[in-house]
Amino acid sequence: DWTMGAYREEAIRLIREQVGDKKVICGLSGGVDSSVAAVLIHEAIGDQLTCVFVDHGLLRKNEAEEVVAMFRDNYNIPLIHADESDLFLGELDGQSDPETKRKIIGKLFIDVFQKHADSIDGAEFLAQGTLYPDVIESVSFSGGPSVTIKSHHNVGGLPEKMGLKLVEPLRELFKDEVRELGRELGLPDSFIGRHPFPGPGLAIRCPGEITREKLAILREADAVYIDQIRKHGLYDEIWQAFVAILPVRTVGVMGDGRTYDFACALRAVTSVDGMTADYFPFSHEFLGETATRIINEVKGINRVTYDVTSKPPGTIEWE
Ligand code: XMP
Repeated sequence: DWTMGAYREEAIRLIREQVGDKKVICGLSGGVDSSVAAVLIHEAIGDQLTCVFVDHGLLRKNEAEEVVAMFRDNYNIPLIHADESDLFLGELDGQSDPETKRKIIGKLFIDVFQKHADSIDGAEFLAQGTLYPDVIESVSFSGGPSVTIKSHHNVGGLPEKMGLKLVEPLRELFKDEVRELGRELGLPDSFIGRHPFPGPGLAIRCPGEITREKLAILREADAVYIDQIRKHGLYDEIWQAFVAILPVRTVGVMGDGRTYDFACALRAVTSVDGMTADYFPFSHEFLGETATRIINEVKGINRVTYDVTSKPPGTIEWE
């Protein structure tokens, strides 16, 4: 693609111009955005880039292993795998307010990056895979009170005191353009096609208090749901699909016994850029089969619901 090829060349030129001979650290989330940003920046400045993959304990099943393997196997990018799950889950313990959870996560991300930046001699820049929709959704509405829709952890949360300058080569792009750029850069198709995953991870798919027990249940349910979607050949038709574990237990009956377990909600939406979305029209057969599989295969869930809210008025995530 001529346009993306030109964008790539220009982006590389701008990164070199901005960074000079200094070092850059890049936070990898495992998502397409930060991965494309990392590969682009690596192409521009090579070993001046170090990636930091923060495992906040809020990732999906096998996600950390897959991301680390993909970067180590396919690219020669220095990668620090920071397991900070105790830190994050400890600070989140007992917190149930959505914005408070996001702020805690955002602050800890910065602390962790700061720590690793300090360990890299000469690091002066922090790279992020911020997209255009992230930029505009975080801007206050003009004319009214200062209201932000959500505090995206990866935008504007960089305190001056951190002393790092931002490199955001995807700031002008929409998601589909980032995928095109990723293809242009040779990232594997399986990776480029991945659904978006938010920085705060499973925290915002676990309304109410986050516990290790709920996270473990959520991971299993999500894995079954995504497996169902793949088996039915629907993955690429969907912008994003995930399970949210609800902060409520419900009564059920299984075999001869009464159960009292968590309810969950399945979410799947179509979208072009994440700014607006429609719920995905699964067949009743698909929904019924998926509910049965989740309840049979996931200990701790006895009720499955399907979220049929579009955006607006809903958001894609639950928090
Ligand atoms: P919402 O829930 O606002 O989500 O409709 C729109 C898109 O953004 C993702 N999202 C985030 N991504 N940090 C991110 O990197 C965040 O804090 C965040 N919050 C939401 C969401 O998954 C969807 O793709």
